[in-house]
Amino acid sequence: MILHVPNVLNEQQVAHCRDAMQHATWVDGRVTAGYQSASVKDNCQLPEDSKEAHELGDTIVAARERHPMFISAALPLRVFPPLFNRYDPGMSFGSHLDNSIRQITGTPYRVRTDISVTLFLSQPDEYDGGELVIDDLYGAHTVKLPAGEMVLYPASSLHHVTAVTRGTRFASFFWIQSMVRDDSQRTQLFELDMAINQVSQALSQLHPAVVALTNCYHNLLRRYAEV
Ligand code: NI
Repeated sequence: MILHVPNVLNEQQVAHCRDAMQHATWVDGRVTAGYQSASVKDNCQLPEDSKEAHELGDTIVAARERHPMFISAALPLRVFPPLFNRYDPGMSFGSHLDNSIRQITGTPYRVRTDISVTLFLSQPDEYDGGELVIDDLYGAHTVKLPAGEMVLYPASSLHHVTAVTRGTRFASFFWIQSMVRDDSQRTQLFELDMAINQVSQALSQLHPAVVALTNCYHNLLRRYAEV
């Protein structure tokens, strides 16, 4: 499932991120790339251990943990701390895969990357190019979202970022190990959860069928989840 999650950061939070990123010191994005990706990766990143990366990362973590759609879609077990990148004119990231396992720097913890996330921090009219293109069985999906919105997609997908030809593209990205490893099971749970929410909002009072459906949801989650 490729899912667009709106309203993750508000305008003030985006402005705060942008201000900190304008003044930060950036390094070559190849620092976190594997050897194959390094040959097609051309962008800048905030150093993982920088003050800005930690501080902005905390803002993003707090915002996403309060976002019901994000939680329902990702069912997060472990999440890699947010990283930040910048593409200036001429920069791009060719077709690549994200490593399946990532060690969280400075900790004994590893994250299995079930879901990749990009949180856009530039408005689409601030830059040309810079689209995230995700390939799956159904073809190539081009994503360019308003600042403060995120896309979740299976980390198993090949993907690339097209060259920026004008302006600068800022974004945050991270990976999630989900309680439900399988994308199709996760999608099924998400669709069921969204439908239950819609039905329960449409009814003026709690209907016994909503309770029964919620029970089905949790029994499926119990069957699929690893915690
Ligand atoms: Ni990637």
